[in-house]
Amino acid sequence: MKRNKVLLGVNIDHIAQVRQARLGTEPDPLVFARLAEKSGADGITVHLREDRRHIQDKDVLNLRKRIRARLNLEMAGTDAMVSFACRVKPEEVCLVPEKREELTTEGGLDVLRNREKIRAFVSRLKKSGICVSIFVDPLQGQILASQEVGADCVELHTGAYAGAQSNLQKKLEYRKLVLAGQCALKAGLILNAGHGLDYRNVVPVSRMTGMHELNIGYSIVVRALTVGLEKAVQEMKSLI
Ligand code: PXP
Repeated sequence: MKRNKVLLGVNIDHIAQVRQARLGTEPDPLVFARLAEKSGADGITVHLREDRRHIQDKDVLNLRKRIRARLNLEMAGTDAMVSFACRVKPEEVCLVPEKREELTTEGGLDVLRNREKIRAFVSRLKKSGICVSIFVDPLQGQILASQEVGADCVELHTGAYAGAQSNLQKKLEYRKLVLAGQCALKAGLILNAGHGLDYRNVVPVSRMTGMHELNIGYSIVVRALTVGLEKAVQEMKSLI
């Protein structure tokens, strides 16, 4: 049976994080978004966090105007963020939970416990023509609740799979993803996944039935640093 092409959304938060280390203008996330596009990225993903630790409002506005790939804005479900998204109109918004003290998004959004609030945010975003995804743990209850509040997609949190410490644990976590994926497709949702995916663990997730898009950031940036350092040092050496 012929497999559908799985799309790649490249998350460029960590490019902005390097820039913020010096509060300068480089590296510019727009330049990297364009390079990612040129290299085959189907979408560009950014997380505009409440603490603005990496991506800034102006980055999102710049990307909106100047990239051709789809823009996927990850954000917390708050009034301020929903208003921002309705103004900027990315093709897609992915609602994620956010805690100030976390290093990165730690768990999926608890849709079951926050149904009414999330339903209202989903409705406002959809009225602005934005496709709405919800980042959820691979649990049937959260997936069905996402469908019930009107989401178009779910992004399955692959963090537990990616972080599994043994083969058995990895198998169990993968099984949860597969069952969650089946549940999402049955509910008529578009199926995406992401978090902690890298060059060693991505293939089984990309082979899941009905997988539409994977959002990957950290491992791609790490790989870019690894394969790019040689050339960067050689160029500097030749200048001096
Ligand atoms: N998807 C979501 C919802 C995320 O919050 C993140 C991390 O920002 C990613 C995907 C990408 O994760 P990673 O950087 O580990 O590839």
